[in-house]
Amino acid sequence: MTSAALFNVWKSCGFKSSPYFQDVLQESSDTKSLRLFVGREEEQRQLLTTIGSSDSSRQAVAGFPGVGKTTLVQYIKAEAKKANYCVSDEFISITPEHSSDALLGQLIAGIYDSICACEPELKDREEMKNACHFVEFTRQRNISGGMQIMGIGGEISVSTEIHDPIVGLTLPARHIIKNLLKCVLDENKFEGVILHLNNIENLSESDTLKAADLLRSVRDTGLMVDGLHLIVVGPTSAVQDVINRHRQIESVFTPIMILEQLTLSDVHKLLENRYEALKIDSGQPFHRLIKNSIVEELYTIFCGDLRGILKSLDHGIKTLLLRNRNDTISLPFTLADFRPIIRELSQQESEKLERNLGDLNWERIVNWADKDLDSTQTQESLSRIWAISVGNVSIKIRELITAGAVEALPKRVERKIQYLLTGSARLATYKK
Ligand SMILES: Nc1ncnc2c1ncn2[C@@H]1O[C@H](COP(=O)(O)OP(=O)(O)OP(=O)(O)O)[C@@H](O)[C@H]1O
Ligand SMILES: [Mg+2]
Repeated sequence: MTSAALFNVWKSCGFKSSPYFQDVLQESSDTKSLRLFVGREEEQRQLLTTIGSSDSSRQAVAGFPGVGKTTLVQYIKAEAKKANYCVSDEFISITPEHSSDALLGQLIAGIYDSICACEPELKDREEMKNACHFVEFTRQRNISGGMQIMGIGGEISVSTEIHDPIVGLTLPARHIIKNLLKCVLDENKFEGVILHLNNIENLSESDTLKAADLLRSVRDTGLMVDGLHLIVVGPTSAVQDVINRHRQIESVFTPIMILEQLTLSDVHKLLENRYEALKIDSGQPFHRLIKNSIVEELYTIFCGDLRGILKSLDHGIKTLLLRNRNDTISLPFTLADFRPIIRELSQQESEKLERNLGDLNWERIVNWADKDLDSTQTQESLSRIWAISVGNVSIKIRELITAGAVEALPKRVERKIQYLLTGSARLATYKK
């Protein structure tokens, strides 16, 4: 007998699990498979053509929080795998705490893992064994914080002394990366390796500079190697700050791809795909849980933030199903059923944002939303709304971006930078 506390609302209405999960789609997953992917045909074409048309490439995908950046790159990797590129489901995170050695170590580990995932037999090759030592010791060093790796010339020898100063890895790293890619290309079976650097976060000014310096410091060693295709992913401001900061990096990347929000009809399709894939009885049509009007309302509130839409649906439908557990529920839920849930979520989000931002910055968000929630603003217009100097706006706007309440729109040469409230700030200031 199932305990009352373990009542599964999703099973009770015919689904294996929540159709509103917020995880990134993965090639290797059954329930969160890339078969659920919708839309973005033009972006797919562009990213894949760049990879297919050069020996080595560097691309960046940016966009609003939750718009679908990581999932798009997961999809691209799966497509590239079909065309004989080595890829891994995993991705590498860049953070400013990294040293360039640590980043190089991660790049090598990423290439090594991608090769192992696609052709485990290559593990026996000398180049792979060398890289494997390196990867293992880099990982141990990351865990212990003290283990050192020392490279001498092209060979790797390892010192396990604790607390020695870190020895520069640049020379051997370049050698290892080149050898790994040569080993892949020699096979004649593979076209190259795709590396996915995910989650460059919105950083403070000085951290952005550090991350940009870091990338520049590994450019020739780690990025510009035949057979290596790099895709960097993150929010628009962070990616622009990091990639465009140094000409040496900007000049070797293709122009940053900024993702637009999925169309409303693609969002409906995304949900239909999930209902189909997750229904328990594959022979029967699925139960409709919600009217389309709920999705339309959330689409307007979140302005492209798919994670925000899915999280609200997951929480909201679960709550409604639980609250009505002992009554005969009449499905699908209507917008009138759902509106109180949106208000509750809005209340929670505004408390959270207010806590994170502090009173003054929270008030600035409210002033902006009162003026016009959907409006894009420049530093000059915000200076008028907030009654502070433009110089001060620039500081405040960075704080708001770092806290995830505001995002910059793509820079246009002839225009001043424009800013928009994110899904989180829009939910927090919801007024119906
Ligand atoms: N094109 C798509 N087709 C189907 N589902 C998608 C698509 N894009 C995103 N999703 C779903 O939307 C959710 C958010 O996507 P994802 O995590 O890729 O966004 P993100 O932009 O990387 O977010 P963040 O800014 O938080 O890193 C995930 O649950 C993902 O499965
Ligand atoms: Mg992401």
